[in-house]
Amino acid sequence: MYLKNVELVNFRNYKHIKVSFNKGINIIYGKNAQGKTNLLESIYLLGLTNSHRNILDNSLINNGNLFLKVKGNLKKDKISNDLEVYIDERKKVLKFDNSIINKVSDYISNMNIIIFTPDDLELIKGSPQVRRKFLNVELSQLYSNYYVVLNEYEKLLKIRNEYLKNVYKNHKIDDNYFDILTSYLVDKAIIIYKMRQKFVDKFNLFCQDIYKDITNYDNFRIVYKKSIDVDINDSNVKNIMLLKFREKKDLEIKLSSTIYGPHRDDLEFYLNDINLKFYGSQGQQRLAVLTLKLSEIEIFKKYKESVPILLLDDIFSEIDKDKRDNLLKYINKDIQTIITTTDVDTIDDKFIKKAKLFQIDSGKIKKIKEVI
Ligand SMILES: Nc1ncnc2c1ncn2[C@@H]1O[C@H](COP(=O)(O)OP(=O)(O)O)[C@@H](O)[C@H]1O
Ligand SMILES: [Mg+2]
Repeated sequence: MYLKNVELVNFRNYKHIKVSFNKGINIIYGKNAQGKTNLLESIYLLGLTNSHRNILDNSLINNGNLFLKVKGNLKKDKISNDLEVYIDERKKVLKFDNSIINKVSDYISNMNIIIFTPDDLELIKGSPQVRRKFLNVELSQLYSNYYVVLNEYEKLLKIRNEYLKNVYKNHKIDDNYFDILTSYLVDKAIIIYKMRQKFVDKFNLFCQDIYKDITNYDNFRIVYKKSIDVDINDSNVKNIMLLKFREKKDLEIKLSSTIYGPHRDDLEFYLNDINLKFYGSQGQQRLAVLTLKLSEIEIFKKYKESVPILLLDDIFSEIDKDKRDNLLKYINKDIQTIITTTDVDTIDDKFIKKAKLFQIDSGKIKKIKEVI
């Protein structure tokens, strides 16, 4: 799939622009603070309905304005669809071919995006929450059902935690009600655990070869850490989990919080037996993230039979030249790629020839050249 064009109205530092992209490689260059990341952010918003940065929707609206709109035309095989995201202070409206879509899960599986930014180092170094968000975003794009189950799980979790808080306050518990809540929660947790485990297994099919290809190091792998020690494929898994929950009941009441579940999951990244979070060099960590992103492309190709759109935000300055060239081998005209950089000279001429080139200056975008 590829994004043919986007139109932004009142998005960050853009008042109104239209950009037509090449279906292969696009390079956007410009000085700092001109709007390069903002442009990629608008594309991410168009596909996934929120920003890749951890911010409130309101900050996306151009200062002094009351709404924003991002529109785009997406091509998939011979089909062409119009997507639109509108945001104002009170609401967000999603449109697909000019019809309003009420369920986010129905909207986000249309346009698949993989983004790679310098902040992604947080995937390795940051808190488990960052890694769970990664799992959630990617799985929601792959399976719209995942998003539905995750939402149901989060609603139940909230209700259960509220109830625990009440029990702690009032020293009174309705055991029947509490058991039913736990049982529903565990049902959803098992579905999420299974989907996450399968997803991590898929990563491990690709990531070792990709890491080796870029870095020459062997034995890179990802480990899925569930917060509860159970074999998810055990036919009796629900009962085992319920038992473990029961053992922690008093503690849960004391803490007013649910101790086990996908909301406490984590991922670990290993090079041989070295946990990269604690013992990896910055370079190793960066390349681990890159490997993750490139593996995702393969997962989308294989399991969704679609090629996602790749957004690379200013990543070249941080990677050595030889590794950069290895990376560029993965980027070819079969996958639409939108790259931003402050320094177009760091990119190989051969690569530039294959790209459509743009320059951004204070929220204005200018086409410099088409693909040669
Ligand atoms: N809501 C907003 N309204 C107007 N300008 C904004 C808004 N949010 C961010 N900006 C401006 O966008 C610029 C940063 O754009 P960004 O895309 O991050 O730059 P870069 O080209 O370095 O990636 C800054 O000048 C910032 O003030
Ligand atoms: Mg930037």
